[in-house]
Amino acid sequence: MAKVYISRDDKDTVELVLRKGLLVQQAPMWTVLRLALALSLKQIAPPDESFDSLEGGHGGEPTVEVLTGESQKESEGFQDAFRVLLSIYHQQDLFEDKEDKLYARLLQRHIRRGLREIRTSWRESHDFHEFLYQEFFASQQSEANANNVQDAAALLHALEEFGLNAEITETREGPRVTRNLVRLSDAEDYGRLERRLDDLGFTLGLKEAGVFLSPAGEPKTVILDVPRPPQQWKSVGANLLSSWDVPALGLPLLLGVDVEGKPVIRDLAEAPHLLVAGTTGSGKSVCLHALILSILTTRSPQKAQLVLIDPKRVEFAPYKGLPSLFTPVMSEGIEAARCLKSLVREMETREKLLASRGAREWSELDESAPPRLVVVVEELAELFAQAPDAEESLVRLAQKARAAGIHLILATQRPDAATFSGLLRANIPSRIALTVQKGADSRIILDEMGAEKLLGKGDMLVKWLGDKTTRAHGINITQDDISTYLR
Ligand SMILES: Nc1ncnc2c1ncn2[C@@H]1O[C@H](COP(=O)(O)OP(=O)(O)OP(=O)(O)O)[C@@H](O)[C@H]1O
Ligand SMILES: [Mg+2]
Repeated sequence: MAKVYISRDDKDTVELVLRKGLLVQQAPMWTVLRLALALSLKQIAPPDESFDSLEGGHGGEPTVEVLTGESQKESEGFQDAFRVLLSIYHQQDLFEDKEDKLYARLLQRHIRRGLREIRTSWRESHDFHEFLYQEFFASQQSEANANNVQDAAALLHALEEFGLNAEITETREGPRVTRNLVRLSDAEDYGRLERRLDDLGFTLGLKEAGVFLSPAGEPKTVILDVPRPPQQWKSVGANLLSSWDVPALGLPLLLGVDVEGKPVIRDLAEAPHLLVAGTTGSGKSVCLHALILSILTTRSPQKAQLVLIDPKRVEFAPYKGLPSLFTPVMSEGIEAARCLKSLVREMETREKLLASRGAREWSELDESAPPRLVVVVEELAELFAQAPDAEESLVRLAQKARAAGIHLILATQRPDAATFSGLLRANIPSRIALTVQKGADSRIILDEMGAEKLLGKGDMLVKWLGDKTTRAHGINITQDDISTYLR
């Protein structure tokens, strides 16, 4: 009989829910395990293999039959239903799996991920039933709401109000946004729609968030991305990082998923430098963690090393002591400025190395070349406040470090002229804009409007050197995720 293993922590969670969470007395363990399964199935990315191993011993081994109710009475079990669910979710035929090995493993991963979710999202002092209600039903209730913006009829109605005769030919539900392919009756209507886009958002009741319009590549057809309420979002979890297909690029970065849920990957080596900007709480730091973990999970220390500068002192502490660090994590502005100066010298040494090997780009060098360096600055404005001379070194690096295999990732809340001056700006062509307050802020970051209509929490517009701007939803990396990845 195939078994599912859970850890001691998991078992504690189950027991806590049974004791303090559920209102029914003496519910069996599988009640909690099935709830955990359901919670995990709500996420779009599959749970990763970290749930296969049980550090600190296991806390129980319920059989698959108990979980699915098959052991009770053959005819009343849910074995087939569970198998169908997981087969669809994982796009694999689990009915073929005769010994139930894979089936049990996937079941275990989901259950353990669900239990972790309970552990991290539910507090003992809070009502567990309310927690479940929010997780499972709050979204459905608003789905039933006739005014729901997701409702295609509401969209058509709003378009009609602007005198636009349209037809929705397809809708695709992404993690946060519903993508509508809309056929207009007249090609001229595109301009009219573009001018009324803010009104459309307003009519749909979207407050600051907005509708994004883009051409669909077919005549008269446009794409309208309409955000759904946060209760209906599907989370983009850190497990995406353990399962991505790492492409053969210089320095691949996994930024998140696009509006339809597909991974968004860019090459930092091509960028060659990146600005990450957005208002407070928009998700800059979380985004930096995703970038750093992308580099750490895909490159061996020989191929890329990090220089982490954190004048706010809060964010980069978990990376202290990692083998992939070129210098220790820096939290003093003065110390960081000194380090940046030495990186300018490093750049010059590397330029000589390139010349001696007759190469023009770092990618032309062989394995024996020193690793690429990625310099990450958390809050540029704070660094400049503490050490104004850091700017000169950063400008020199931005101007020339690309060929030397040195790349900058600079984050700031205030990308205005004072912090992100002309020289720096001109040499950092790739940008990520998280949510900002005004269209003018978006222009400062991207040279175009749009970021003021984003949804916050890691929603971003990505403008990479040479590419057209695309929207992505960032990976939600928690402190727990970071420790898990660095372990
Ligand atoms: N990709 C994401 N998915 C879901 N939630 C997110 C995401 N990114 C950020 N958040 C949420 O937003 C909160 C704020 O994010 P973060 O600390 O990265 O903001 P910030 O822009 O660095 O803010 P500050 O400028 O104040 O440092 C996070 O604690 C998290 O709850
Ligand atoms: Mg921050």
